[in-house]
Amino acid sequence: MKINGKFPNVRLRRVRNSKWMRNLVSENNVSVNDLILPIFVREGKNIIENIKTMPGVKRYSLNKLSSIMNLVKKYKIPMVAIFPYTPKNKKDKNGLEALNKNNLVCKSVRYIKKKFPNIGVMCDVALDPYTSHGHDGILVKNRIDNDKTLEILVKQALIQAEAGCDVIAPSDMMDGRIGVIRKALDKKGYKNVSIISYSAKYASNFYGPFRDAVGSKSILKSDKKTYQMDFRNTNESFREIGLDIKEGADIVMIKPGLPYLDIIRNIKENFKIPVFAYQVSGEYSLIKFGIKNKLINNNSVIESLMSFKRAGASAIVTYFALEIAKKLKNFN
Ligand code: PBG
Repeated sequence: MKINGKFPNVRLRRVRNSKWMRNLVSENNVSVNDLILPIFVREGKNIIENIKTMPGVKRYSLNKLSSIMNLVKKYKIPMVAIFPYTPKNKKDKNGLEALNKNNLVCKSVRYIKKKFPNIGVMCDVALDPYTSHGHDGILVKNRIDNDKTLEILVKQALIQAEAGCDVIAPSDMMDGRIGVIRKALDKKGYKNVSIISYSAKYASNFYGPFRDAVGSKSILKSDKKTYQMDFRNTNESFREIGLDIKEGADIVMIKPGLPYLDIIRNIKENFKIPVFAYQVSGEYSLIKFGIKNKLINNNSVIESLMSFKRAGASAIVTYFALEIAKKLKNFN
């Protein structure tokens, strides 16, 4: 059959024909304002070491932090998230190092806030970098005791706030933690410290490289399914997020990212609160290894980040933050 000019009168390809038209009609974009960079810190001096399971990601000793922070500043990344690699001799059953005002995280926060006062600093609240068993809370008879853990988490949040951290990010998934942490922060005068709650954090298989990076992988017994969410569930994420908002969360986070785009979209549509996504270590490493082995090309990174924007995320915690910030100018 010959097409006689009447059909098709709608041609979607007309808005794809040129680069400038594609730019004009684009519905979403990733900007450097959307990026949060996780940084791993470690003890020692003059150390910048590779993390085998996360190509391109490194651990920094305190006196080398400036090398990455200068780039964060140069490329105008709004916020960093600090994670500590704790040596075995500083880990114990109750994760007491979390309450040391001079632990790696507190020292890093003080350093960054002094040298880079205009860059936001976010700190995890959870005990897993510090416990000898790798769990986020206190073990009592082989179970994570919710309320005993809360007592320690509140103290951990307070010392991080005292060190100058701008954003407290509880990632532990204990019930009631946002409420008690918000109350304690306010009581001590930290009313301007924000809370980003890892509200819908799933018991995911994609955290492996991160656990390696903070040194908890080999020691973690069993899994975190009694506190992190079951990946079969959607409704439960509404309950988690509803509670966290009621308890005082300023921003909610969905974690992991790519396998949970449906959750981001649902939460964005149903709650009028900023939603962040965490593109976790396993997602990062999969993409990296794919690129390294020439299975996929480099632009898969921006494509993955764009999916978060499409789903409705305001910002993305991603190990790609720096390399994407460098490239964003050239994109399109
Ligand atoms: C610890 C924590 C984890 C991540 C961030 N904070 C791991 C876990 O819950 O086991 C994962 C981040 C990543 O995989 O990139 N509470």
